[in-house]
Amino acid sequence: MSEFSPLVFSGVQPTGNLHLGNYLGAIRKFVALQASRNCIYCVVDLHAMTAQLVHEDLEDQTRAITAAFLAAGIDPKAHIVFNQSRVPQHAELAWIFNCVARIGWMNRMTQFKDKAGKDRENASLGLLAYPSLMAADILVYRATHVPVGDDQKQHLELTRDIAQKFNSDFSARIAKLSLGVEMMVGEERVNGYFPLTEPLIEGPAPRVMSLRDGTKKMSKSDVSDLSRINLTDDADTISKKIRKAKTDPEPLPGDVEGLAGRPEADNLVGIYAALSDRSKEEVIAEFGGRQFSAFKPALSELAVSVLSPISVQMRRLLDDPAYIDGVLADGGERAGAIAEKTMKDVRAIIGLLA
Ligand code: AMP
Ligand code: TRP
Repeated sequence: MSEFSPLVFSGVQPTGNLHLGNYLGAIRKFVALQASRNCIYCVVDLHAMTAQLVHEDLEDQTRAITAAFLAAGIDPKAHIVFNQSRVPQHAELAWIFNCVARIGWMNRMTQFKDKAGKDRENASLGLLAYPSLMAADILVYRATHVPVGDDQKQHLELTRDIAQKFNSDFSARIAKLSLGVEMMVGEERVNGYFPLTEPLIEGPAPRVMSLRDGTKKMSKSDVSDLSRINLTDDADTISKKIRKAKTDPEPLPGDVEGLAGRPEADNLVGIYAALSDRSKEEVIAEFGGRQFSAFKPALSELAVSVLSPISVQMRRLLDDPAYIDGVLADGGERAGAIAEKTMKDVRAIIGLLA
């Protein structure tokens, strides 16, 4: 009996500037996974329409995220880089998942509640159904692993719920067509068409916090630009933001347990660890007992040395939009071939004549 071959998929929305949270929570992991896995990385332009319908510069935003992927070290020849809308099978499978998923599941999503705010009746239907499209992005490739930041955990649990419900609702037809793959669900061996995807969230900075408030996530939408480090910030700006980052008056603790209850210190140590591919323990072993006045310059230097080459390369790539468009077209073609294979099976499983 065959098994699912390991495949990594992840997506980033083309809305607003990328920041250090996107880099450490997602893109840096995308880069690292290339060495051991086949990877598909997607700029999810259809998702960008869910919270705000009209974007004046969606094309350029899509190119900017693509440039960030490439500048950070993603190899679009060895792996696949493309924009979602080029492969219409994502939207086709999302419709089917809209009929598999339950409204109650969508209503419980914290991202929906946050983004819809008080006036839920007035949110787009797309914003509510967003996780169904996200599940389709992943499962149209039958991807097994998804690197994301901590905020996407709930969406990935929902992706597993959708896969599991599809596998069980259609189990008879999957068996009849011999399209099932064996997998372990807990202790149980089951047969299904879609894998139960694993999130890859671990690492020292799964949730990078605001530099102004260690209890709030670093985010594109924070009104204060001092709260985040953008991938396009120059060296002086990065240093200034780290210098002004909120801290408490104590020196760094002597062990990692001492970071508990000190969100700003914990955040900066996590950032240092993630940027240098070390654990928080190792960072504390080096800097424990030191004042922030000593730690912050070291952090600035490290952040500049990692981020500056990326922003320089991003700008270079953005000077040649035709090259970027070529990468997306080539990636779209290769992704489309895999997605169409899945959709042929799915149409047969459901009974859609094609
Ligand atoms: P988005 O820009 O919302 O499409 O997010 C792209 C990726 O960055 C997703 O995998 C998010 O989980 C991740 N991400 C966004 N903000 C943060 C953050 N503050 N810390 C860690 N990861 C984040
Ligand atoms: N929802 C993700 C975010 O906001 C973006 C996304 C869309 C995604 N489709 C995906 C991430 C599939 C991983 C896999 O960050």
